[in-house]
Amino acid sequence: MQNAVITNNLTRKFGDFTAVDGINLAVKNGEIFGFLGANGAGKTTAIRMLCGLLLPTTGSGTVSGFDIYRENERIKRTIGYMSQKFSLYHDLTGKENLRFYGLVYRVPQRRLSNRISELTEQLDLKAFIDRPAGSLPVGWRQRLALAAALLHRPTILFLDEPTGGVDPVFRRRFWDILYRLAEEGTTLFITTHYMDEAEFCGRISIMHRGRIIELDRPERLTKKYAMPDLQEVFIHLISQQENYGQNSVHRRKGNPAHPS
Ligand SMILES: Nc1ncnc2c1ncn2[C@@H]1O[C@H](COP(=O)(O)OP(=O)(O)OP(=O)(O)O)[C@@H](O)[C@H]1O
Ligand SMILES: [Mg+2]
Repeated sequence: MQNAVITNNLTRKFGDFTAVDGINLAVKNGEIFGFLGANGAGKTTAIRMLCGLLLPTTGSGTVSGFDIYRENERIKRTIGYMSQKFSLYHDLTGKENLRFYGLVYRVPQRRLSNRISELTEQLDLKAFIDRPAGSLPVGWRQRLALAAALLHRPTILFLDEPTGGVDPVFRRRFWDILYRLAEEGTTLFITTHYMDEAEFCGRISIMHRGRIIELDRPERLTKKYAMPDLQEVFIHLISQQENYGQNSVHRRKGNPAHPS
């Protein structure tokens, strides 16, 4: 079976600074892959390379079998990308935004109306599709942005913190939609800082300063580090990298500034 995403020592530098430092990934078709990491770890930079929006400095990679250096136009046609700073036009209604993105993604005009109706139904957008996007609560806007990313029926969906700032109920509903997409065969490559969401992923990677420091199934990681949940695993690994190690836990527990 072909992999949805493969990278070999994928690296991106900005001047002297290495934002993504030789990452190796093999994401299977149909997988829900959680791409986690601390702030500034290099997640968005890596996703932009995979989406054909930024050229790597060195290393290689394919998305849907297409080369990220030479075939980025083909990649753009097969993937959906919900960026960290998604760009809905605030003064256009939901429907107008979808029409606009339909043109951007070159969905044929004759199919666009049907596709918008279909997504309105599937993503339960009906109640707010005719309101200006800027007037909508964040959770609804995110769902609209997801619809925009799905207009051209991508087989791989890259979601960069799609639930940032969204309340827990909306987040859960958003994940219900993601699960349905995965069941229908869409590969999901998703970034989140919410560890409860990371637990929903088939596998996760944890990134720190451009490198992938751990990659496995959530339940295997909690077992490996003998931690109660992923949140603790994440904090443990990042703290270790930051060179606090176990000291930080001890320091906090016995912090002289906060005597118990
Ligand atoms: N165009 C750029 N020029 C210079 N540095 C950049 C550029 N884009 C990103 N960086 C730097 O690369 C590093 C990784 O940034 P990136 O946005 O990929 O991190 P991230 O893991 O997505 O973080 P977050 O969780 O905060 O979204 C950061 O230090 C960032 O400042
Ligand atoms: Mg980011």
